[in-house]
Amino acid sequence: MEVLSVASEVYPLIKTGGLADVAGALPGALASHGVTMRTLVPGYPSVMAKLSGGRVVKELDDLFGVPAKLIAARVEGLDVIVIEAPALYDRPGNPYVSPDGWDWPDNWKRFAALGWVAAELALGMVYGYHPQVIHCHDWQAGLAPAYLKFGPPNTVKTVMTIHNMAFKGFFNAEVFGQLRLPPAAFGVGGVEYYGGVSFLKAGMECADYVTTVSPNYADEIRTPQFGMGLEGLLNGRADTVSGVLNGIDTDAWDPTIDKALVQNFSANTINLRQTNKQALVEKFGLDGADGPLFCVISRLTDQKGMDLLLQVIPGLVDLGGRLAVLGSGEAYLEDGFRHQAMLHPGKVSMASGYNEALSHLMQGGCDAILIPSRFEPCGLTQLYGLRYGCVPVVSRIGGLADTVIDANPAALAAEVATGIVFDPNSAQALYEAIRKTVRLYNDDKVWKKIQRRGMKSDVSWETSAARYADLYAKISGLDSNDNPDN
Ligand code: ADP
Ligand code: GLC
Repeated sequence: MEVLSVASEVYPLIKTGGLADVAGALPGALASHGVTMRTLVPGYPSVMAKLSGGRVVKELDDLFGVPAKLIAARVEGLDVIVIEAPALYDRPGNPYVSPDGWDWPDNWKRFAALGWVAAELALGMVYGYHPQVIHCHDWQAGLAPAYLKFGPPNTVKTVMTIHNMAFKGFFNAEVFGQLRLPPAAFGVGGVEYYGGVSFLKAGMECADYVTTVSPNYADEIRTPQFGMGLEGLLNGRADTVSGVLNGIDTDAWDPTIDKALVQNFSANTINLRQTNKQALVEKFGLDGADGPLFCVISRLTDQKGMDLLLQVIPGLVDLGGRLAVLGSGEAYLEDGFRHQAMLHPGKVSMASGYNEALSHLMQGGCDAILIPSRFEPCGLTQLYGLRYGCVPVVSRIGGLADTVIDANPAALAAEVATGIVFDPNSAQALYEAIRKTVRLYNDDKVWKKIQRRGMKSDVSWETSAARYADLYAKISGLDSNDNPDN
């Protein structure tokens, strides 16, 4: 089975969030299930810089008005096809926004090009390459299924995976004329959405199958609260929508060998984490108190409930906790954390920006990670937390609810608790959860059991990779008895 994965980011070539981790880990996880996965990715500067020894497999004179080359390469263990189109992708900033934080005005064109190339590859643009399934991730890849649906007859199947419903890839109707789609595509069965164009809706409408990244989020997005206007579409095709839980790359995230840690450790040598904690205390300029060290590793946005956390920081400090924050995002939240750090020297500290190595060290040294998200399709930082003994404190939402078992009395008695889960998603409930965490932390025996259990829980791709492989086979008609919902 040959599958082309289409993603706007893929770790370790380019990453702004969890999508990159998932796109980067899936090919390796699928290999043992008989699936060969190549990844199509735009040639941003950081991608081009890592590319060496690639082969030009196609030259295009006119990719939405600009020249482009498709380069096939094996980089960092991944088989990729990179779209080298400097006029579209050779820009500073991250893949979506300029260095001053504004969306690039031609994002519709930059990602229409991604979807169009994917569809053309599926249709045989490169001699000898015939993927049977195109697996599209998020809105940036959403037009590929539309190009295939409204293009020449073909047998290629498509899967659209929603990592985040909040980003719809919505553009003014005026762009439609330049998308290289026939007029019929501007309708309910195509890319039209409330009078404009939505790349995500297009993918969700035109793909053969839609997945999202946890079973609970797959249920949630069928409701108005989480469906964000697309719940009707999902309910209309309920038998071809399901949730496949994300896993993590357990080689890249392995506390026994992780080079980003000051001290490696395992579930049997949890006390060694203390050395990492000490290193973090120094790095973040915190004091040497006894209490738990909480952390945040996150985009600082409303989605992540960071405004709720800001409200309870004084309470966290009063309870004897300290807080290390690694993140970047909305200015008012960054400022808020800086302000709290100023008010609570030695107790609260903030590192802004993006730092992969530091994120590993924090998972390997902090006692608990706070994730008070308002919605969370899956969430990966709680999975890294579980694997590294950094106990997750999460809101009962989306994939967080699917992956963390709350330390309530019954779960503690049954010896299954792996974290702290709270609801409703309010500052009050978050504060109570922090209080409960401090209480559990102070009971060393119970706390270590929670940590150890988390470290031993299965956060790998094993089960979910099998489900994707079954799904590809099912929609391709190779194994019609295999139901991916089972
Ligand atoms: P989302 O994709 O919504 O941002 P996830 O939890 O799925 O949330 O994935 C976030 C990923 O980005 C994780 O790998 C996390 O460790 C990483 N991350 C987030 N912020 C930072 C940061 N400031 N520095 C390093 N890694 C970060
Ligand atoms: C999105 C979601 C996050 C998920 C990630 C990878 O960015 O916000 O919950 O874990 O994609 O699927």
